[in-house]
Amino acid sequence: MSSSPLKVGVIIGSVRSGRFADTVADWFVSEARRRHDMDVEVIDLSEPALLEELKLSLDPAEGPAKAPRLDRRIAGQEAYVVITPEYNHGYPASLKLAIDYVYSEWRAKPVSFVSYGGLAGGQRAVEQLRQVFAEMHAVTLRDTLSFHNAWEQFDDEGKPRDPDNVSKAATVLFDQLAWWGQTLREGRAKRPYEA
Ligand SMILES: Cc1cc2nc3c(=O)[nH]c(=O)nc-3n(C[C@H](O)[C@H](O)[C@H](O)COP(=O)(O)O)c2cc1C
Repeated sequence: MSSSPLKVGVIIGSVRSGRFADTVADWFVSEARRRHDMDVEVIDLSEPALLEELKLSLDPAEGPAKAPRLDRRIAGQEAYVVITPEYNHGYPASLKLAIDYVYSEWRAKPVSFVSYGGLAGGQRAVEQLRQVFAEMHAVTLRDTLSFHNAWEQFDDEGKPRDPDNVSKAATVLFDQLAWWGQTLREGRAKRPYEA
């Protein structure tokens, strides 16, 4: 049984300039990097090369949509955490493009979420993303992290105002991701997923 660290892709979904995503992501990624059972790669959809691919995928002159760089980055991971804001009771269009154009690399892998927003803490975005990931044959996990009125949850240095509680919630998320990630790794190795 393999027990090498689980490769976890942390996907930052907002591509807005001046986004709050960086505050949430910086804290979350620093928590994730404390785990010895995980190797974390940040996949920021606002990275110029990735953003360019997503933009090209919308251009009808470019022919069939492809996002090879993003595809490679997603393919290299065994589990994912999607960091998503909520826009008008939904999730950002950038995330939908990324999910659609990568397509098969999500199969038989676990996905969890860190959300943020106003009163609902981005949870409506997460519930919608669960429907989309089910179609990709991914497994979404029960426990997520959500920051309600997110801008009030972090201090001026970007540190959570309630560090113990959010760290505890992050540990639950990581433990579930580790269980599913290792279990599905073993499952895929034993029996290729062919649904
Ligand atoms: C176009 C737009 C729509 C929004 N709609 C909602 C919403 O429906 N619910 C909510 O809780 N927050 C909403 N917000 C607030 C965002 O969740 C908040 O601004 C968050 O910081 C956005 O993430 P970002 O800054 O990383 O892009 C909205 C923000 C924008 C820009």
